[in-house]
Amino acid sequence: MSSILPHGGVLINRIETGTQRETLLAEAASLPSILVNTWTISDLDLIGVGAFSPLTGFLNEADYHSVVERMRLADGTVWSIPITLAVEDHEASVLSTGKRASLIGEDGIIYAIIDIESIYKVDQQREAVHIFKTDDEEHPGVAKLFARPSTYVGGPITVLNRPVPEKFNEFYFDPAETRRIFAEKGWKTIVGFQTRNPVHRAHEYIQKCAMEIVDALFLNPLVGETKSDDVPANVRMKSYIALLENYYPADRVFLGVFPAAMRYAGPREAIFHAMVRKNYGCTHFIVGRDHAGVGDYYGTYEAQDLLKTFPIEELGITPLYFEHSFFCTKCGNMASSKTCPHDKADHLTLSGTKVRALLRDGICPPPEFSRPEVAKILIEGMAEQPVS
Ligand code: ADX
Repeated sequence: MSSILPHGGVLINRIETGTQRETLLAEAASLPSILVNTWTISDLDLIGVGAFSPLTGFLNEADYHSVVERMRLADGTVWSIPITLAVEDHEASVLSTGKRASLIGEDGIIYAIIDIESIYKVDQQREAVHIFKTDDEEHPGVAKLFARPSTYVGGPITVLNRPVPEKFNEFYFDPAETRRIFAEKGWKTIVGFQTRNPVHRAHEYIQKCAMEIVDALFLNPLVGETKSDDVPANVRMKSYIALLENYYPADRVFLGVFPAAMRYAGPREAIFHAMVRKNYGCTHFIVGRDHAGVGDYYGTYEAQDLLKTFPIEELGITPLYFEHSFFCTKCGNMASSKTCPHDKADHLTLSGTKVRALLRDGICPPPEFSRPEVAKILIEGMAEQPVS
């Protein structure tokens, strides 16, 4: 087993199997039901497998307010993103604390039951300002928040059915499995890498800088819900596989997905991302420029600055901070302002919009920006996607 403790000390397991599951499924059929969307299903599954340890369910009222206001659960444990269950009024009207409800997907599947501890109304505008530092509806995380009902239900859950991945099943590993695999490989120090993008040269550079000082890299792309102009997960997965095959030592890297939704909460999400990777068994976690950011809502190093306000012992995982990285034409290699003395004009910089335009026209960005194997897959992927 990985030597690093999960967040809160114990890897949570809220997945029920066997006869107990059968009994609960039978009970669930007669309980009041709450309709859950794909995002909530991914949250409940991640709670179930312990990726969100120490959470055992959706936040109750005391934990919610504590997380929103001070980035800690009510017992003081660091936790920065509220994982909540929003319910419609007609659903809430038949629920009571101390009772159970079933969580049912649009497909009619009973995914879980919840033991209701609290039913509470929230001020979503306040939540937005605390979590996203803005209540601007142009922010994709804020828009998602405001689209939900403002009554939340909190309490521990028991997962009865797990969502089945449509593709790339072989890259889905629960925290208990990654911990076992890392231990079997003899890795003592593992750096986790969060991404919602294809891995370009700057990502590769910071990963490899980290790999120089740890035993292995856990490439852990987020494949849950993202905003529509992000590259779809299926295309990204192909690009990660091609990149690893061609440019990474197979015995020092492990690819496994993080099936969570992207919040775009910048600094707060960086803390959340680090805690989750600790649960998967990582000892280190990369935080580069504008981690989990969107638009210009967050400062380039704001995520790093926020993480630095928490003592390492409380985080329980070591963040590895990287400056904005780029290819420098004078250095002839990848660099950052920490290692390159040259002028900005000597640096290759391409905006996301420019890169997307190139790919859409079937043109590979320069190899100093993206590996040709990756660019080729992105071009093919773009050709299959409707233009957004
Ligand atoms: S994120 O929303 O998942 O953070 P992205 O996939 O772009 O977005 O970033 C993955 C990680 O790489 C984050 O830690 C981010 O800060 C870092 N990163 C991305 N681009 C750069 C860059 N050019 N220089 C340094 N770090 C970067």
